[in-house]
Amino acid sequence: MYNLLKGKRGIIFGALDENSIAWKTAERVKEEGGAFVLTNAPIAMRMGKIKELAEKTESEIIPADATNLEDLENLVSKAQEVLGGKLDFVLHSIGMSVNVRKGVHYTESNYDWTHKGWDVSALSFHKTMQVLYKQNAMNEWGSIVALTYMAAQRVFPDYNDMADNKAYLESIARSFGYFFGRDKKVRVNTISQSPTPTTAGQGVKGFDGFIAYADKMSPLGNATAMDCANYTISLFSDLTKRVTLQNLYNDGGFSNMGVSDAVMEPFLKQEE
Ligand SMILES: NC(=O)c1ccc[n+]([C@@H]2O[C@H](COP(=O)([O-])OP(=O)(O)OC[C@H]3O[C@@H](n4cnc5c(N)ncnc54)[C@H](O)[C@@H]3O)[C@@H](O)[C@H]2O)c1
Repeated sequence: MYNLLKGKRGIIFGALDENSIAWKTAERVKEEGGAFVLTNAPIAMRMGKIKELAEKTESEIIPADATNLEDLENLVSKAQEVLGGKLDFVLHSIGMSVNVRKGVHYTESNYDWTHKGWDVSALSFHKTMQVLYKQNAMNEWGSIVALTYMAAQRVFPDYNDMADNKAYLESIARSFGYFFGRDKKVRVNTISQSPTPTTAGQGVKGFDGFIAYADKMSPLGNATAMDCANYTISLFSDLTKRVTLQNLYNDGGFSNMGVSDAVMEPFLKQEE
């Protein structure tokens, strides 16, 4: 432990169970000396284990549906009360596609569901930042991070409409990040994470094959949820003060690979 977040305060969205990237991040933030409020959609309070995490990390839970502005306003103002001051970090770790959940093929999208998934997965990031910005809730040199996936740049057919949601999310990070940087000296970045076995990740069709393929393709192997937590800590710390408007890959090198020996192997055997 490095005490990288000593005295810093924040909000962590999206811890559902111990596999969640946000769960691991909360544990690491606590170890680094940071204090935070945990939040999730009211339904996740009933289904998930967030209370366990709150006890473990001595943090309060303030429920909020991240698509609901009133909930977000209440969350941001209460978090500052509970923590005793403005915020230094926020993690947006939220994703959900109704089309994915219901197994609807991309070419058959139900647009009401597309809209819902976009609101939850992408627009909620804008809403969160708008509330933080309007309440002037962030300290100077604070850091806001959202989690994304490389399907925003390249085709992964089974990622479905989440690919579009992630492209939108990454764009919001740049667009809002400009104003947050210029006006409040706050940085905004997205981390593009390897496939990770969580509730959201495993909802993607063919996930097991997909994660094994990514692992074979990446020279360092897939980044785990803990790797993502550690990277996030570095972005919340004062060691990355002028990193902003970036989409940062935490993927063992996958995003710059064309092909690896391990992935080529079965094709070479066919040739023999
Ligand atoms: N698991 C992966 O393979 C992977 C890869 C790259 C990026 N990501 C991203 O990481 C983030 C975290 O996902 P995870 O993999 O830890 O899965 P997870 O299922 O543990 O977390 C997703 C969270 O979103 C929350 N959520 C859904 N609707 C919400 C709403 N309306 N308001 C507030 N919260 C809501 C859920 O309750 C849950 O806690 C997501 O943005 C996901 O897209 C995941």
